[in-house]
Parts: sequence; C-alpha cells; structure tokens
Amino acid sequence: MCGIVGCILKENEDVAPILFDCISKLEYRGYDSIGLATFSDGKINIKKDKGKIIEVDKSLDLKDMPGSFGIAHVRWATHGDPSKLNAHPHVDEDNTVAVVHNGIIENYLEIKEELISEGHVFKSDTDTEVIAHLIEKFMDEGFDLEHAVRKTIGIIEGAYALAAISINEPDKIVATRKDSPLIVGLGENGYYLASDSPAILKYAKDIIYPEKGEIVIIDRDGVVVHDEFDNVVNKDIETINWTPEMAEKEGYDHFMIKEINEQATAVRNTLTQRENVQEIIDDIGDIQRICFVACGTSYHASLTGKYLMESLAGIPTDVILASEFKYSANTLNDKTLVIFISQSGETADSLKALDVANQTSKTLGIVNVAGSAITRRADYVIQTQAGPEIGVAATKTYVAQLTSIYLLAALVSENDELLNELDMVPDFIDETLKDVDYVMELSKRYNYARDFFYLGRGYSYPTALEGALKLKEISYIHGEGYAAGELKHGPLALIDEGIPVVVIIPPGDNYRKTMSNLEEVKSRGANVLAIGSKDDESLKAKANAVIGINPEVKEIIAPLVYIVPLQLIAYYITLEKGHDPDKPKNLAKCVTVE
Ligand code: AGP
Repeated sequence: MCGIVGCILKENEDVAPILFDCISKLEYRGYDSIGLATFSDGKINIKKDKGKIIEVDKSLDLKDMPGSFGIAHVRWATHGDPSKLNAHPHVDEDNTVAVVHNGIIENYLEIKEELISEGHVFKSDTDTEVIAHLIEKFMDEGFDLEHAVRKTIGIIEGAYALAAISINEPDKIVATRKDSPLIVGLGENGYYLASDSPAILKYAKDIIYPEKGEIVIIDRDGVVVHDEFDNVVNKDIETINWTPEMAEKEGYDHFMIKEINEQATAVRNTLTQRENVQEIIDDIGDIQRICFVACGTSYHASLTGKYLMESLAGIPTDVILASEFKYSANTLNDKTLVIFISQSGETADSLKALDVANQTSKTLGIVNVAGSAITRRADYVIQTQAGPEIGVAATKTYVAQLTSIYLLAALVSENDELLNELDMVPDFIDETLKDVDYVMELSKRYNYARDFFYLGRGYSYPTALEGALKLKEISYIHGEGYAAGELKHGPLALIDEGIPVVVIIPPGDNYRKTMSNLEEVKSRGANVLAIGSKDDESLKAKANAVIGINPEVKEIIAPLVYIVPLQLIAYYITLEKGHDPDKPKNLAKCVTVE
C-alpha cells in the first residue's frame, strides 16, 4: 500500500528522471496518485496529482524537475480521497520540509488538532501531513533533520516507512520505518531508498535493511544508520540476485501474462530449495500440529498444504486467515509449527499473527521477497524462487508457494514418488500454456456473465477458490469458489440457465463424485466449463466446453497445473471487459495495513 522512493546522486545531475523511473516500478503498490519532490536553489520543488503515473506525467512532465536529490511516492488512499491535495509529498505550510510516507498514522487526528491549536495550517485530509508539520516544528525548535524525525516518531503511532528532506539541510535525506517496508540501496551513481527492490534494481544491487526505529541518513558521501541512542549501526549489506529485466514486461502486454508464462521457471527454480527444506525439517524436530497462516491467494496455497500434510504426513493441520489468527492463539504450543505463506513478506495481518505465534511456537515463513519482514522475524525461511512479481494478481508466486509446500510435505513424508512427479510439473505447465488460443476464444464466450461458480473437491477445492479470486479481483465479475459437494447445501439455488460453472475435475479418487456435482448443475441449466483430462471423452460429452490437461497430471499435483487455465481465463476476460489486469481498482500488491 503506497510506495516510496528516495535518491541522492553523487554527481550534481538531475535526479527527477531516476526518481520517476524508480517510482514507476512501484506502481503496483498504489496507483491513485503520484508525486515527486526535489531540492534545488534553496527550495523544494513539488509536482504531484491524482491519476495513474502515465496520466500525471503527461500533464506535469514529472521527469523535468531540477535538483540532484529528492523523494517520490505512489499512493493507495487510506485517509482522504485520491486528489492532488492528498497526494504525497506533503509539506509544512512554508514548504521547508517534504515527506513521503507508506503506512497509517493512527493518532494523527489528536496530533493534527494540537498542531492546529499551535497555529499550523493543514492543506490535506491525510494522516501523513502531520509528519511534515511535526518535523518542521522540531526543526524550528533547533533540532536537526535527523533528530526532528526521531522526535516525530516518538509521537506518531501506527505503521510507517517515511523519508524526509528539508531546505535547511540540503543534500540529505532522512528515513525511518516501523511495520512498513524500507530498503536502502548502495548504487554506483548514488544512494537510494525504496519500499521494495524492483524500484532500484537498475541502480543498486547492494541492499541494507533498516530495522524498526533505526534512522537512515543518506547524503552524497554514503549511508549512515543510527539506532535509537544515536549509535552508528553496522548493517550487513546483502546483494539482490534479481535482474532489472525481471521487473520489466519484456514484450508482454501486461505483467500478469508475463508472470503466468514464467510459472514453469518459478516451479523449477523453487524445486532447487530441496536441500534447504530438508535442513529445516531436520532442525525443527518433533512437531505434532501445523498451522498455516496467510491471506488471499497465499491462503489458498495454504489450504492445499492442509490436504497434503494431513494425507501424506498424518500431521493435524489448520489453515487460519492471518486477520483471524489471534482468536486461535490459545491453542498454540511449542509442538506447533506455524507456517506463514506470503509472496511479499510484508502483509500487515500476517506480521501481526507472526508476532503472536513467535511467543509460543516455531515459525516458518514461505516468502518470495528476500529480506522482507517475515523473513527477518520467522525462525525458519523457505524462499520461493518466483522472481519479482509486479502484477497485483498473484500467479507465479502462487505456484512457487505451492511448490515449496509440496516439497515440505513430500520430504516430511519421505514420498519419493511425489518428488519425482514434482519434477514433471514445469513441463505440464508449459504444455497447458500452449492452449492459450482456445482459452482466449472461451473468454469471448463467457465474458457476458455477471456471476461465475468454481467447483472442486479435495485438492481441487483450493484451486476453485483461487480461480474465483483471480476472476473477481481483476475482471470485477463475481466469482464464488465452492467445495463441489457443498453446492447442494444452499448455493445450488443460485444456479440458473446459462450461469457459467467452472468445474475442476482431474482424474483421480474424487472424479466420480465431482462428475455427479457437474451433472447436478448441468441439469439446472448451468453452462459448464470443465478443466479435466484431455482424454476424458465422457467429460467432453457432458460439459459445454472442456479445457484439456495432460492426463498424467493426477489429482495430487493438479493444483500446480490446473490453476493455469483459470488464471488465463481471468486475464482474457479482463481484457475483453477493457480493464487493466495489472492494476485492479481498490487493490495493491502489498497490503501493509490491517
Ligand atoms: C492475490 O492475487 C491477491 N492480490 C491477494 O489476495 C494476496 O495474495 C494477499 O494480499 C496476500 O499477500 P501476500 O502473499 O503478499 O501476503
């Protein structure tokens, strides 16, 4: 939610084109407004407005601003409508301080009232503006920028990653964080701050991860990090192995379709984590219960984990939405392994739950972004190897999460057969992707619908949920995923003539029962789109349309392959409806607020 960037160049060149380039890479974090602030000739220059980056750049020419250091922001509105006034950077009334912020200041109203009573004049409805006024107030009292920021974070409550510049201390950016992500990049031409690494991959590979409460001071000579007592902290420098190209569209129309096409690679690369996974298993020792904790797509990957862990390893397993986790915390103990699944590693709900779980249990994070908060706070980490995912709808990170969970389950249960089957998954995915023309044609046939149902049993139930989520989040068509057997307990009443029902029906133990459910909806007039084996003639006879998958993809590994056509359907229906699949309305890639 919101993205921030800061940069100071070693040479005296204009920073705006670089700030613009960096912040454009974070548009997946928020796309209702954008703003840049640079410093030149003793004053702060600001260009900002509501709208997508491309629109605002067209009207304001954001790359044309003087100054060799500055800050930038993309917004996902929480306090105050998307508008020019509410767009960041925010300044004090005299334009002496500019601030960008990602997070939420929970006590901003009290602070604002007090500042107004002291004579401060506010321009926006945001929580962030109080930060600019507080910093200015403390600088007026004689504090330097660093200590004005420190005094400010002693007052504000909530989550933040923020960066500030001041006309009174040129050539300096001061930043800090608590519960929102912030990285510092050491580049050849300058020093960088960003909410996430895709912003700066092109400019800096060496990264420092500031901890909560640390103050980062960057100037032309380098980066210094201070702890709360003003001591210099010697931070480790970690090198990112992602390339800038990985965060580009590389000829695809959208990130989402590029990322769907990268799924075989994501699985293949994640399978290389096998040794690491085995070491974790050996180290964890005796575990009597597993709890998966996650949100959204990661929650659906976790549900598949429950089926695997219970059926293969016989370990009782729960799956809990991160936002609901605290209500189950009483049942945790030191024989419980709590597994946090998250592509970003920064989801606020999951982080809060992780803090709770860390008090009693062993914790394992399955995370795509190296150095993210979950990787730093969990006892153990499996890093999924999907590479950067920019599309808001999770696709390749989902199959990479599943791959890690399958590895874990197969190694815990010493199931060599499953390990061998996993090796075949990348080829199955690529084979499935070859049917894209047929899926495009189907998308034209189905885009009329207002509601969709997705049905699956056992391993295919989470796939149904995930297929429905993909559809609803990007095409804005209502999609409901159901356990196929549950439909007749209520939702069957909604099945009508022509309503599309997507049935996930791979060959295996659940085939016959799922087929009965398919017939139930068919006989009530549903327009059935089945995803099943290519060789399944009886399915072809019963469904209105079938997307055929290699018959060797059996039920147990089907979640890794059968999701692919569902992602494609969501993508192409979204294009048919004229929406942007990479930037669905109201959503952001990284949800750093509870
Ligand atoms: C996925 O398409 C969604 N955008 C969303 O549900 C996401 O999976 C959820 O917010 C969890 O995010 P995380 O994996 O980064 O924790």
